[in-house]
Amino acid sequence: MVSEKKKRIFPKNFLWGAATSAHQVEGNNKLSDWWAWEKAGNTAESGRACAKYELYDHDFSLAAELGHNSHRLSIEWSRLQRPDGSWDNSEWDHYKKVLSSLTAKGIKPVLTLNHFTLPKYIARQGAWLNRNIIDSFSSFAEKTASILGGMAEFWITINEPNMLAEMAYLKGEFPPCRRDYKESLTVLAHMAEAHAGAYEAIKSALDGNAKVGAAKALTAFHPCRKNNLFDMLAVKKTRWLRNHSFINSLMEGRLTIPGMPEKILKTKKSLDFIGINYYLRQFVRWQGFGGRKSFGKTCPYQHHPESGDITDMGWEVYPEGLYEVIKEMMRYRRPVMITENGIATDDDRRRVEFIRLHLKSAAKALSEGMPLIGYLHWSLLDNFEWTHGYSKKFGLVEVDFKSLDRKIKPSGWYFADIIKKGTF
Ligand code: BGC
Repeated sequence: MVSEKKKRIFPKNFLWGAATSAHQVEGNNKLSDWWAWEKAGNTAESGRACAKYELYDHDFSLAAELGHNSHRLSIEWSRLQRPDGSWDNSEWDHYKKVLSSLTAKGIKPVLTLNHFTLPKYIARQGAWLNRNIIDSFSSFAEKTASILGGMAEFWITINEPNMLAEMAYLKGEFPPCRRDYKESLTVLAHMAEAHAGAYEAIKSALDGNAKVGAAKALTAFHPCRKNNLFDMLAVKKTRWLRNHSFINSLMEGRLTIPGMPEKILKTKKSLDFIGINYYLRQFVRWQGFGGRKSFGKTCPYQHHPESGDITDMGWEVYPEGLYEVIKEMMRYRRPVMITENGIATDDDRRRVEFIRLHLKSAAKALSEGMPLIGYLHWSLLDNFEWTHGYSKKFGLVEVDFKSLDRKIKPSGWYFADIIKKGTF
């Protein structure tokens, strides 16, 4: 007879939970660059969002009810530091209460310092394009560690550096709406430097008693034409730029971003764990030699009958990709944590299936001995999905944006059952 213990796939100390970000759930982040950008009529307004700023304790009770033992959240820099550099103590007190509420429920915080938004005054000074942000961000990290330090074991400095560089500085879809390839690389380099500074600051403030990582968007890149050498070369280059160059820079302690001068960073091996945000596969097609061309271009799913279901974001559901990207990270010899993985859909049955298949992929990585330490689903609540406003539903919990009522979806319970049993 197979014992109960043997049937468990996920270890007892596995981190299970969901992820959120301040701007997407808190509401009224009036001092951030995003708020200003929304108010200028560029996109839907976040407004009071899920009012998690007020309702956090209730939301964490829901997470606890669902068996979550960890929760990824971000603090909002624009609430905490004023333009003259001084700090707002009442906002620090707020986040102390937020973290205490989690801990009181047996939920470990995974604390993110920057999830896309910036204080408006930092944005006015050039945001991530201005080198000064490296020091400002490191001081913010140091201050956070000195105030919230003992309350979190896992820290994430920056969420999805490549994605921010791409969306805000290359495609012009996020503030500050730049469309400049060179600038997007400069921003990525500044984020690597800022991360290294923040890593040092947190580690020295906490005597090394913190595990510091970054949450990296990783995509499963495949060649458009299987076995085509040119497509394979374009995949290799794109994968390097988008999946590896940032992480590799941090681990080697020098910038290894294509097109950027090599530069020594403040510290090396500045990742205690690698956070993986995984959502989709992309097919890459060769475009030619030289410069940007050599990275190829994304080939539409319509050209790929083998591709799976498409989500409301237009992304392919490709669960095997989760295993592929975990495996890709093994060269850095660091534990990995899934810091985001989720699906935008109004049909919650699709979310159940999404969770099942992606956890199977995670289980495969574990069974092969890969050091996967947690899975945090994106997201706990339906929330403000950036330029898409409230139209995309990622939550395990439904939010009625008029009444602010919360209702756990069947997928939330399905996930809870896996957490409880440690298996499917
Ligand atoms: C971001 C989240 C976002 C999610 C879904 C990730 O890139 O970190 O803020 O909501 O993807 O688009």
